[in-house]
Amino acid sequence: MYNKGTIIPGLIIFVLILTSPIWYNGLKAGDLPKPEAPMGVGKQCVLPVQEMRDTHMQLLNQWRDEVLRDDDRSTVVVNGKTYRKGLQMACMQCHTDKEKFCDTCHEYASVKPYCWDCHLTPKQAVSKKETH
Ligand code: HEC
Ligand code: HEC
Ligand code: HEC
Repeated sequence: MYNKGTIIPGLIIFVLILTSPIWYNGLKAGDLPKPEAPMGVGKQCVLPVQEMRDTHMQLLNQWRDEVLRDDDRSTVVVNGKTYRKGLQMACMQCHTDKEKFCDTCHEYASVKPYCWDCHLTPKQAVSKKETH
C-alpha cells in the first residue's frame, strides 16, 4: 500500500530538482543573438526585416535558381540604389561584416551555410584585392 498524497508531490519535487540546471541555465543562456545592423545603407533590407529574418534562406535559393537556371540577372532597388541579384552582389554589399552579422545568428542556431566554400566573404574579397 502506498499513499498518493505524498508520492505525487514527492515526484514533482524530484523532477524539479532533476531539471533545475535547465531552469537555472535557461534563464541566463537564453540571450538572443544581436546581429550588427549595417551602417550607411539606410534602414531597409531587400524585403521587410521580419520577412528577411524568417525567409532569407528561401530568397537566396530563389535568387540562385533565377540567376543560374533562368539567366535572370535582374536587379533589386533598395533606397534608390540598385544592386545586382546575388549573395556577394547584393547581400554582402550592405552586410559587409559576415562575422558580426550572419555568423552571430548562425552560431546561435547551429547552422553552417556551405555557401562560403565557393562565395567570397567581404573579408576574403578584400584580402584577394590586396594581394594583386
Ligand atoms: C560549389 C560552389 C558553390 C557553392 C557551395 C554555393 N555556390 Fe552559389 N554560386 C556558385 C557559382 C559558380 C555561381 C555563379 C556565379 C555567376 O555566374 O555569377 C553561384 C551563384 C549564386 C547566386 C546568384 C548570383 C551570385 O553571384 O550571387 C546566388 C544567389 C548564390 N549562388 C547563392 C548561394 C547560396 C545561398 C549558397 C549556400 C546555400 C551557395 N550559393 C553555395 C557556386 C557555389
Ligand atoms: C540595401 C542594403 C541591404 C541589402 C542589399 C541586404 N540587406 Fe539585409 N538588411 C539591411 C538592413 C538595413 C537591415 C535592418 C537591420 C536592422 O534593422 O537591424 C537588414 C536586415 C536583414 C536581416 C534581419 C536581421 C535581424 O536583425 O533580424 C537579415 C536576415 C538580412 N538582412 C539578410 C540579408 C540577405 C540574406 C540579403 C541578400 C539576399 C540582404 N540582407 C540584403 C540592409 C540590406
Ligand atoms: C536574425 C538571424 C540571422 C541572420 C542575421 C542571418 N541568418 Fe541566415 N539563418 C538564420 C537561421 C535561424 C537559419 C536556419 C533556418 C532554418 O533552418 O530554417 C539560417 C539559415 C541560413 C541559410 C540556410 C543554411 C542551411 O544550411 O539550411 C543560409 C544560406 C543563410 N542563412 C544565409 C545567411 C546570410 C548570407 C546572412 C548574412 C547576410 C544571414 N543568413 C544572416 C538566421 C539568420
